[in-house]
Amino acid sequence: MVEALVGPMPVDMRSADLCIGIVGTGAMGRGIAQIAAQAGIRVLMFDALHGAAASARETVIGTLGKLAEKGKISPPALAAATAKLEVVSRVEDLASAKVIIEAIVENIEVKKRLFQQLEDIIAADCILATNTSSLSVTSIAATCKRPERVGGFHFFNPVPVMKIVEVIDGLLTAPWVSAALLALGQRMGHTAVAARDTPGFIVNHAGRGFVTEALRVLGEGVADFREVDRIMREAAGFRMGPFELLDLTGLDVSQPVMESIYNQYYQEPRYRPSPLAAQRLAGGVLGRKSGRGFYDYGKDAVAVPEPLAPTALPERVWVSQTHPEWADVLRSIAAAAGCEVETDYLPGADALCLVTPLGGDTTTACVEQGLDPRRTVAVDCLFGMAADALRAGDAASQAGKGVRRTLMTTPLTAPEMRDAAHALFAADGSAVSVIRDSAGFVGQRIVACIVNIGCDIAQQRVASAADIDRAVTLGLGYPKGPLAFGDALGARNVLQVLETMQGIYGDPRYRPSPWLRRRALLGVSLLTEET
Ligand code: NAI
Repeated sequence: MVEALVGPMPVDMRSADLCIGIVGTGAMGRGIAQIAAQAGIRVLMFDALHGAAASARETVIGTLGKLAEKGKISPPALAAATAKLEVVSRVEDLASAKVIIEAIVENIEVKKRLFQQLEDIIAADCILATNTSSLSVTSIAATCKRPERVGGFHFFNPVPVMKIVEVIDGLLTAPWVSAALLALGQRMGHTAVAARDTPGFIVNHAGRGFVTEALRVLGEGVADFREVDRIMREAAGFRMGPFELLDLTGLDVSQPVMESIYNQYYQEPRYRPSPLAAQRLAGGVLGRKSGRGFYDYGKDAVAVPEPLAPTALPERVWVSQTHPEWADVLRSIAAAAGCEVETDYLPGADALCLVTPLGGDTTTACVEQGLDPRRTVAVDCLFGMAADALRAGDAASQAGKGVRRTLMTTPLTAPEMRDAAHALFAADGSAVSVIRDSAGFVGQRIVACIVNIGCDIAQQRVASAADIDRAVTLGLGYPKGPLAFGDALGARNVLQVLETMQGIYGDPRYRPSPWLRRRALLGVSLLTEET
């Protein structure tokens, strides 16, 4: 009766007497048990380590108790959830579960052995789900007698807070299995997104752009890590800078993920890790957990204040017309600061020359336009020069101080011209970052890499465009999903940033995804699926 087993199975995830099993009751298993119990699902908790499941149950009950104390859940809800949590001492006791979620050690051989053992115990319509974040669901399923009932169910830590779960289709996963897991994830109060079994699934794949490109910027000597973090927070609108994020996660966790996804994609240049991070990992400079990462977390650590902006304004300012709408904004800022704004086609002999490259560097703009490199400074206008909708929640714009502006010099820009440009853009109280020459400044290049990788995840049909954006906003906390971010900046602008960077660096890392190129050329949203 193999056909009957492969066909649609009547697994009702809304059933009031639904029972699931959780194997491995560590950080993840506990979180999953908590949200399942809160959703009224009976949970059988099993752990190979004697006493671990019982202690996990106590921890979950303690967490629920704190939620009740704070008034987040009612006393009856606390009692109901507590009653749903059961500890079992043998794998065989999981026989009545409709779904078993594995959250044990991240070791493929151990997981395969567990699944083979479970297959001999469970009912024909029981689903086997793995919470793996880096192993292939298809490989884990391959050792099972019925690989079609195995799927990925990838939660994020801490589970009750990170309200997203990726439902991963292995190569042989049956549609009824993924449909049931999507419904189960939703019943548990999470946004459940469907993804194909590919390295990093959606979220860990989409996260490659932010930190690897930031590490490249650092490796190129464009700016120091503090400046990169400030720009990504206050200009691009991210909650946390890439180096703050690396310190929070710890390089012992993030460097192996960077290397694993890069290698699983056979050295895809878009995911290329940085030797800087490998060296820091080797040196034990891991981040918060080791007391020192990019930032110092020791007890004697002192915050490094941002240097004060210079105040001596330029007398005359000339603005390149390559982007007329941006030129108008820069001219009005210069006029408001009291500078003389030149309007001739070419700059006068002593004017500060401002250029507005998109994906390019200051040097190229300067040479192409025949400007004096000692007087030329580039301004990143892609993220806007004043508060706008993209960063509506940004602290700087809420404080009414405008957003952080990024300026970039040529290798020859005179220090007094650089400082005059800095003073000019800081004159209205805006924060200003001054960086060295870089194709795509800091914000343009990092965000373009994020958008491009998001587009390529869509191109590879790992997930729908809408699910990619949903997963990234919930799983990574980005201000927008990569596709919506590209739309907000303009898909053609992002395409130009990437093409220009690829031209300057000659690195296939920056080659635009066909998904991005086609939608940019057609002038449609990056969220547009094929008809
Ligand atoms: P953990 O180390 O906190 O807990 C693992 C638990 O599994 C331990 O209690 C251990 O005694 C038990 N265990 C180990 N081998 C077992 C076996 N053969 N049978 C039964 N129990 C066994 O690990 P954590 O962090 O909860 O991770 C579990 C899984 O979730 C891993 O696959 C991990 O990759 C994945 N994951 C972890 C995330 C995280 O941030 N910690 C995020 C997403 C997925």
